[in-house]
Amino acid sequence: MIITLDGPAGAGKSSTARALAARLGWWYMDTGAMYRVLALSALEDAVPLDDAARLARLAESLAIAFRDGRVFVGDRDVSAEIRTERVTAATRPVADAPPVREVMKRLQQRLAEGIDVVTEGRDQGSVVFPRAELKVFLTASPEERARRRHREEVSRGAATSLNTVLAAQNQRDEGDRVRPVGAMHAADDAVLVETDGLTSDEVVERLVQLVEERRRPRET
Ligand code: C5P
Repeated sequence: MIITLDGPAGAGKSSTARALAARLGWWYMDTGAMYRVLALSALEDAVPLDDAARLARLAESLAIAFRDGRVFVGDRDVSAEIRTERVTAATRPVADAPPVREVMKRLQQRLAEGIDVVTEGRDQGSVVFPRAELKVFLTASPEERARRRHREEVSRGAATSLNTVLAAQNQRDEGDRVRPVGAMHAADDAVLVETDGLTSDEVVERLVQLVEERRRPRET
């Protein structure tokens, strides 16, 4: 069975997808990490970020693997490096390239073949797994998402204001929405889950309930 979890940055997708997968004993596929790995490799190999054909070839050649909640390229653990500001900034142009998205789509479909997966990203329900048994679009108001991120950044010692975080987030949201291929939008048959005012445990509970509802008709 495949569950897709899409939505904007800061809606709590990653922690929700990870917790849900752990709860169900399923595999968690972090597709944002896959685009980040490609951006890191492009920077290291000096592949120009506007050369879509070379980026797609690079994507084909990468041995991306997930093990024990960590991300690897071959045997190298890149979990920390793919979260740096430099890689985050390079990920956007890389993820905008249609040939790259095509390669990633095939790779994601292959990785999910024949197993139970919670997959998380922007286009998982709308493009990559249109026949997923359960599609969730996880969201929260822009203010709530910015508040969460601001709290996180302050706890890491960053001196930033809520307004700065909100402005950067609005810019990222807009970029995700207007991307010509793979733009973020809820699939027509996605269940919209608003997380304002819910704890992360409550969100996971809600999703577990939805999974149970989808499973029941098949099992009886
Ligand atoms: O979710 P995360 O912040 O790790 O995503 C990194 C980048 O990859 C973002 O720019 C996002 O727009 C892009 N992305 C994408 N398609 C996905 C997942 C992430 O374009 N399925």
